[in-house]
Amino acid sequence: MLLHLSDLHFGTEKKSCLDAIRLFCKQSSELEAVVVSGDLTQRAKFAEFLACKQFLKSLHLPYLVVPGNHDIPLYHVWKRVFYPFTFYEGFFGPAEQVLETKNFYLMGLNSIRRRHHTKGDISFAQIEQMNHKLKKAPANKLKLVVVHQPFYTPRKSHGWKDCPKQAKLALERWGGLGLFGLLHGHLHHTGVYNLTQLFDLNVTQPIWDIHAGTATSWRLRKNQPNSFNTISATGEVKHYSFHELKGVYLETGL
Ligand SMILES: [Fe+2]
Repeated sequence: MLLHLSDLHFGTEKKSCLDAIRLFCKQSSELEAVVVSGDLTQRAKFAEFLACKQFLKSLHLPYLVVPGNHDIPLYHVWKRVFYPFTFYEGFFGPAEQVLETKNFYLMGLNSIRRRHHTKGDISFAQIEQMNHKLKKAPANKLKLVVVHQPFYTPRKSHGWKDCPKQAKLALERWGGLGLFGLLHGHLHHTGVYNLTQLFDLNVTQPIWDIHAGTATSWRLRKNQPNSFNTISATGEVKHYSFHELKGVYLETGL
C-alpha cells in the first residue's frame, strides 16, 4: 500500500497533522512507501525544506517527492531565474526520480517552470523520457506518475486550472505502455477521475487522475479538511480526512 500526501507547505504546517501522519504510518504495517506530489514548502526557504526532510525521515518509509510551484523562489527574482531548484535538489536530489517497491513503480515528473507562477508544463522530451521508464517497468507492478499539477480539473469548480497543455498527448503515449494513473496535488482538493473517458483516449484501460488535498497545511480551500489518500496494490484509492478534535486521520468517502 502507498501513502499519497500532497501540499505539505512546510512554513504553514500543523503539528497535530504531522503527529497524526506519523501515527498512521506506525500503525499501518502494509505501507510500502510515501509519495508527496509537490508543494513541500510554502516559500521555498532553507528552513522549510529542512523541516520537510526531517518529517519525511521520521516516517521510516521510502519516499518519492516532486517539486510544486511553491518549491521555487517566488519573490527573489535572481534565484528564481538562475537557481530555482537549488534548495529542492540540495535536500531531495534530482526532481525526477523512480522508486520501485514490492507492488509499485513510481515515476516522478517535474511540471514546474520558473516562467509560470502556478501553471504546470511538460515538454516533449519529458514525455519521451517517461515512455522509456514505462517500457522498463516490471509488468506485475502498478505504474504511477507523480506530478504536481493535475491533468484534469472539474470544470464547474476549477475550470481548466493549471493543467499542462500536453496532457492528452502524454496520456495517449503512456496509456499504451500500461500506465495505471497519476498522483497530483496543487488544488487542495480531493478526487479521482477517469482520464481515458474524459479525454476520449485511444487507450484500452482507464487511466486514473488521483488528486490529494493538503495533508498538513492550515491553507485549506473551501472548508475542505486536511486529508491524504492511500492506494492499494490492486489500485483501490481510499481517502482519509483529519479529525481536529480526535487528532487523527479517519477514512472518509471521496
Ligand atoms: Fe501548487
